Amino acid sequence: MPVKIGPADEITVEQAVRVVVEGIPIAVVKDSAGVIHAIGDTCTHGDISLSEGFVEDDTLECWAHGSKFELTTGKPLSLPAYEPVPVFDVTIVDGDVYIDPTPRTVDA
Ligand code: FES
Repeated sequence: MPVKIGPADEITVEQAVRVVVEGIPIAVVKDSAGVIHAIGDTCTHGDISLSEGFVEDDTLECWAHGSKFELTTGKPLSLPAYEPVPVFDVTIVDGDVYIDPTPRTVDA
């Protein structure tokens, strides 16, 4: 079931926000085109919150060792992380962001 996070226009472009939905830490990012993405907040290389990292183009970079995770697929585009983070469906209803905490399956 999608869970309401808050107004879409309160999310700053190219800044990650950490939310916890049904116990799952999720990084919410609005990209430069205004599209909102939701990916797992915990780096697969270490116990680091990705939302404390940097948004760059369509990636979120872990500040610890620099792996960049693709916002659309959750895949790491650079080492040392090699496992993807989960990706979650985002919907906007009446200006509010809803996140479905069931991980979306992304084709390899
Ligand atoms: S903890 Fe994220 S790249 Fe090492």
